[in-house]
Amino acid sequence: MKKTNKTTLNDIGIDKKLAEKLSKSLNNLLADFQVFYMNTRGFHWNIKGVQFFELHLKFEELYSLLVIKIDEIAERIQTIGFIPCHSFESYLKLSSIKSVENVSNGVKAIEHILASLSILIKAEREIMSLAQEANDEGTSALMSDYIREQEKLVWMYKAYLG
Ligand SMILES: [Fe+2]
Repeated sequence: MKKTNKTTLNDIGIDKKLAEKLSKSLNNLLADFQVFYMNTRGFHWNIKGVQFFELHLKFEELYSLLVIKIDEIAERIQTIGFIPCHSFESYLKLSSIKSVENVSNGVKAIEHILASLSILIKAEREIMSLAQEANDEGTSALMSDYIREQEKLVWMYKAYLG
């Protein structure tokens, strides 16, 4: 682990350089969540077919989970001393998840969801590892919770596809 002294630590005792690196990765993750959230609202609104009622509700459940995390990630960035991105421009620039429109097919929507979850889990593992290097238990625990929840979602959405 990196050697630290008092002057290199921020208000909550995390190395400032590592905190800055973490804030950048967390801002990228925030952008991923924002684009994924908007995509999922689109799936909720546009879904068609015999599974409409089931998927319309399921997608609402998903975007409700995502919106809670959007706030948690942004406030974690503030907590470690940086400013969370808060414009559509920066989200579109930073997100690894692409914005999609007019998806009305349930299977296509779920394929997008699974691909997005996979991007999130990979990014969260990287952030968790960086947070552990920085002795940042708060960020590490947050990532760990997200990973566990999203891994379960992957199982369930995959099971739905059969
Ligand atoms: Fe709705």
